[in-house]
Amino acid sequence: MSKKIFVANWKMNGNTEMINKFSDSKVLNSSPKKDIVICPPYTHINYLSSKISNKNISLGAQNCSHKENGALTGEISAEILKDIGCEYVILGHSERRANYSEDDSLIKQKIILACKNNIIPILCCGENLEDRKNNLSTKIIENQLSILKEISDNFTCDKFLIAYEPIWAIGTGKSASSPQIYEILNFIHEYTYDIFSQLDLSILYGGSVSTSNIKELLTIDKCNGFLVGGASLSLDSFELICESI
Ligand code: PGA
Repeated sequence: MSKKIFVANWKMNGNTEMINKFSDSKVLNSSPKKDIVICPPYTHINYLSSKISNKNISLGAQNCSHKENGALTGEISAEILKDIGCEYVILGHSERRANYSEDDSLIKQKIILACKNNIIPILCCGENLEDRKNNLSTKIIENQLSILKEISDNFTCDKFLIAYEPIWAIGTGKSASSPQIYEILNFIHEYTYDIFSQLDLSILYGGSVSTSNIKELLTIDKCNGFLVGGASLSLDSFELICESI
């Protein structure tokens, strides 16, 4: 069985005390069956980096700039993230698409820069509730992933992650059902088959992953791991989730 990937998306939460606890966790550092990625706020990436050297945990960021460098106050580039040891970056999260008007052409630039700097992109996609009710889920995902066809020549990193995160399931306590997840993951797999034939692609699910649904979610075929928000803020629950495999 291939390793499952568990990505903790701390969003605008976390502190040094939390980093101390997570980096010392025996559970997160022990199992050979899983890859653990922690994505703290930018300000705490360096501290996490110093705490996880020689450990089983990988370092991720929640975003990066769509530009290489320059006069962009408050922005962080992929090059800066690489400099502090980041291995993964979450891109196109629905909270960034909705709150910061990130569109597909901007996300495309971010993917190109992440790959150029050898950082593995975790590209998020997902439909809202209205689109799901109107049977438009696959159409929306297809649109969001179509940028990959335009930039496949830029995929210089050897791994790529796509996270299916239905917007209606994020932070609501109401995960998508296993058949719903399977249908979309299968669609993503088929849609991206040609693009990623030479690359190691992993497809994740995210949206109210918790200690109570993880066992069932782990049975979904083609699901290579999980992007965990709220339930990754407590070490106890994140450990239980990661231990379920
Ligand atoms: P959630 O968030 O687990 O709190 O639903 C997931 C995400 O937004 O990545």
